[in-house]
Amino acid sequence: MDNKSDEEACVFAFQLAAGSVLPMALYTAIELDLLELIKKAGPEASASASELAAQHPTTNPDAADMIDSILRLLASHSVLICSLKQLADGGVERRYSLAPVCKFLTRNEDGVSVGPLCLLLQDNITWVRVEHVSGDMFVSMTKADAIFMKWVCHGWRDSHCEKLLKNCYEALPENGKVIIAEVIVPDNPNGGQSSSWAAQGDMTMLAYTSGGGKERSEREFEALAKIVGFKQLIKVCSAYSNWIMEFHK
Ligand SMILES: C[S@@+](CC[C@H](N)C(=O)[O-])C[C@H]1O[C@@H](n2cnc3c(N)ncnc32)[C@H](O)[C@@H]1O
Repeated sequence: MDNKSDEEACVFAFQLAAGSVLPMALYTAIELDLLELIKKAGPEASASASELAAQHPTTNPDAADMIDSILRLLASHSVLICSLKQLADGGVERRYSLAPVCKFLTRNEDGVSVGPLCLLLQDNITWVRVEHVSGDMFVSMTKADAIFMKWVCHGWRDSHCEKLLKNCYEALPENGKVIIAEVIVPDNPNGGQSSSWAAQGDMTMLAYTSGGGKERSEREFEALAKIVGFKQLIKVCSAYSNWIMEFHK
């Protein structure tokens, strides 16, 4: 190996070892609403760390520097675009604007974004305006015409999914349905970005769950539907590798 490729390999090794830093920085930026504040400034607007820090009720004298470190890291990974503004004293000020990926990291007109997923994976979030009804889905489900579950089955091995889907089945009326949102793993992993996303989700489930969590193929979802007694499984639509599927009673 020559010096250049040696250096590149070494930097790559450090990046792998510190791989959790980027999601943590993104987590903090989302929690501090930094991306939303830049977005609020208008299309293609930019903001400096001190302008963003001034919008927070903090007394920490290092707040602007800390925010600048976070935003600089995000810019180095193309999450933000950084431009330099020459200052009268000869120094430079970094100004940050949103890169295309921020369309999905900031809330859309329906208030939806990938942000909560980042918060969920890095920490626990508290949802507001949601009434929580306690219960154990492995014991019984609340009676309903339809039951919607997003990213629940992927947390559990087949025997657990059979149990909870059986409880859904019993809670539904004739012709009721369970609607699930889950990634479908393609049989062939050489399918580009969506199959690598599915495989990555599968690894995340393996690492984060103790209940045998995994992403499933279409065949595996069909087998679950059949074993529980649902008449059919319908794939309704998909967005970003996530499928809406219906188990019909
Ligand atoms: C991966 S999270 C679901 C993610 C969420 N639907 C979303 O879209 O972000 C799995 C959920 O299942 C819930 N859960 C785990 N075990 C349960 C049980 N035995 N009964 C009811 N809910 C349970 C957890 O509290 C957690 O909220």
